Amino acid sequence: MNGIKDKVAIVTGGATIIGAAVAASLHAAGARVVIADIDRDGGERVAKDLGEGARFIATDITDDAQIEQCVASTVETYGGVDLLINLACSYVDDGIESTRDDWNQSLSVNVVGAVMMAKACRPHMVARGGGAIVNFSSISAKVAQTGRWLYPVGKAAVAQLTRNMAMDLAGEGIRVNSVSPGWTWSRVMDELTQGNRAKTDKVAAPFHMLGRVGDPEEVANAVVFLCSSQASFITGADLAVDGGYSAMGPEQGVPAIPLLAQ
Ligand SMILES: NC(=O)c1ccc[n+]([C@@H]2O[C@H](COP(=O)([O-])OP(=O)(O)OC[C@H]3O[C@@H](n4cnc5c(N)ncnc54)[C@H](O)[C@@H]3O)[C@@H](O)[C@H]2O)c1
Repeated sequence: MNGIKDKVAIVTGGATIIGAAVAASLHAAGARVVIADIDRDGGERVAKDLGEGARFIATDITDDAQIEQCVASTVETYGGVDLLINLACSYVDDGIESTRDDWNQSLSVNVVGAVMMAKACRPHMVARGGGAIVNFSSISAKVAQTGRWLYPVGKAAVAQLTRNMAMDLAGEGIRVNSVSPGWTWSRVMDELTQGNRAKTDKVAAPFHMLGRVGDPEEVANAVVFLCSSQASFITGADLAVDGGYSAMGPEQGVPAIPLLAQ
């Protein structure tokens, strides 16, 4: 991908499996990468594995002072900010039983944290003549899932936020897009299945046309594309990286009409 080399990227949530893949892909494309996360051990490990041109900055994106510090420290180390990947998320969600504090915490990470990161990066992107922001939405933004209210609402807000950001930052040369991954091999799946990828693929197969979960690298590829100069005329868009999940209807991949004749 063109236009990534020597750019400076901040990846929130870069300490986890998907975030680490995004950080690694941007790094491989020639960017200098800051991993901004609350997970110190994970973040340090990812930065160390990437080596030169990568560093971890402990950052809680629900805290504006830490956001300011993260961006200032990035500029001090690498001279500016060109790319922001708003990937950190909270899965706090107890459906209707969720408390006000749960809602505030969830939206503070999933929505407001992304806004505040963008706000802090904006002047530095403007100083470099523009930039690109990739927000993380989800397949969960557009469908009802049992017992989940907070996370899907936050992800739907991110999709709308992406359009608002794209509108108001276009004049400053900042493109803003989102990705909506389908089920992607990630920490939660790793933990719940004790590392059983085959089982995870089997569970996901009926609701993904491609019959499996995505690889973190497949999501990362889409992020790198949206950051690159190949995507120079793309802004305000949401890119589904979901193996066909969102194109599939309730009939799934099963011929339904023949059921009438049975
Ligand atoms: N896993 C999937 O199948 C899937 C599907 C669709 C979308 N997504 C999206 O992909 C992204 C990554 O998902 P994941 O499953 O890898 O999540 P995860 O929970 O494994 O990782 C989230 C990361 O965010 C960090 N984080 C949490 N709160 C933070 C805070 N306040 N400040 C800074 N960092 C914080 C965590 O430490 C962690 O490293 C999320 O935006 C998620 O919504 C994931």
